[in-house]
Amino acid sequence: MPAYAVLGAQWGDEGKGKIVDFLARDANIVARFAGGNNAGHTVVNDQGTFGFHLIPCGVLWPQTLNLIGNGVVVDPDILLQEIDELRERGIDIADRIILSERAHLIMPWHVRLDELAEISRGERAIGTTGKGIGPAYSDKAARTGVRAADLLDIEALLPRLDDILEYNNAVITKVFDGEAIDRDEVFEKCRQWGERLARYIGPVEKIANQALAAGQHVLLEGAQGVLLDLDHGTYPFVTSSNPTIGGASVGMGISPTHLTGITGVFKAYSTRVGSGPLPSELMDETGETIRNLAQEFGTTTGRPRRVGWFDAVAAKYSALINGYTSAVLTRLDVLDGFESVKICTGYVTDDGEEIPDFPGGVAALEKCRPVYEVVPGWDEPTASVRRLEDLPAEARAYVDRIQELIDCPIDVISTGPHRDETILVRALIDA
Ligand code: IMP
Repeated sequence: MPAYAVLGAQWGDEGKGKIVDFLARDANIVARFAGGNNAGHTVVNDQGTFGFHLIPCGVLWPQTLNLIGNGVVVDPDILLQEIDELRERGIDIADRIILSERAHLIMPWHVRLDELAEISRGERAIGTTGKGIGPAYSDKAARTGVRAADLLDIEALLPRLDDILEYNNAVITKVFDGEAIDRDEVFEKCRQWGERLARYIGPVEKIANQALAAGQHVLLEGAQGVLLDLDHGTYPFVTSSNPTIGGASVGMGISPTHLTGITGVFKAYSTRVGSGPLPSELMDETGETIRNLAQEFGTTTGRPRRVGWFDAVAAKYSALINGYTSAVLTRLDVLDGFESVKICTGYVTDDGEEIPDFPGGVAALEKCRPVYEVVPGWDEPTASVRRLEDLPAEARAYVDRIQELIDCPIDVISTGPHRDETILVRALIDA
């Protein structure tokens, strides 16, 4: 009954896509459990370069079944687009993608409301991806959402849809002075979605539990990261789902007792896209250099990501919330060639007060200034290195220091975007 979760351990964009693709070789099932097409997971392997927003990154391994769980919010147009693209590229997906009947759909008014709400927030904008994520989860919580199962009985859905749309159009036009969503267009879209998606909609929770009972390996693919978690992140500058470990259980309908491994994916430095505090942010040339070297621009929105040094205070908090059994360190190669590298090991306020733990309030976090430990950099490249012993001594020391600070073994180190540019220190999935 082994389930393995791969979670974003910082602010998202840690390179989970590559890691999931790397690990999926040993998986029977790969499953997304939270978020939506705000996520952008990039995979580079011998088949080419792929960008996934909804379909689990395990799909490139032919033996995998790929599930989209009830915790995901799904824009049907995006899902169909990804399915079509995979088909066009010759990836056989027949019967290998299943969408939970219980997954909520991102409807056209969600996207419009996301945009309008952001504009109305002005300077306090969250910097959302504009994909309708927040409004879709709001409707779910308000019990006015539309789920995948609803597409299977359009005639039952339409009268309900009428009421929901009337309410949402009132908000769009009367609160935000926006343009109403056309009722007939939405009805037609739902009909088309129903026709095309019916074959993919199924009892994902039952399938996952049956696989676990049969001893199959289920890889749970996280999206976003702990610090964007609705409950545990830097609220309100967060996404609207739970990318943390609890979300994996709720968002797939499996018991936490199935979890054998919980892997936190950390990037060798920090990035954040959108607004909200990033205590170790680099506002100088070094930040610019890392951003350009690493091409730190959003996969989903193309926005430049904010860059900072590795934040061990945030990382310890991340480990506390998720209880990692192992860690992955990605993009080590980006730091190649720096004379020295910094690690944020503490916070202090402008008044000199030491802040020992990651604060719960955003105002308190905004007052935190980083305290750095400076470690020597390395000249020799780590790029493409595949064995731990081939890492330059200083790079190895950097990895060891992070491992010590997060108090969790770093079992995988990524040294480049390709599936093969990976150091496997210890296997994460039992053979
Ligand atoms: P939303 O999820 O589109 O509502 O955006 C809320 C916040 O989460 C914004 O700051 C986004 O930039 C951020 N965010 C959402 N998804 C991702 C992701 O996959 N990677 C990094 N940041 C994300």
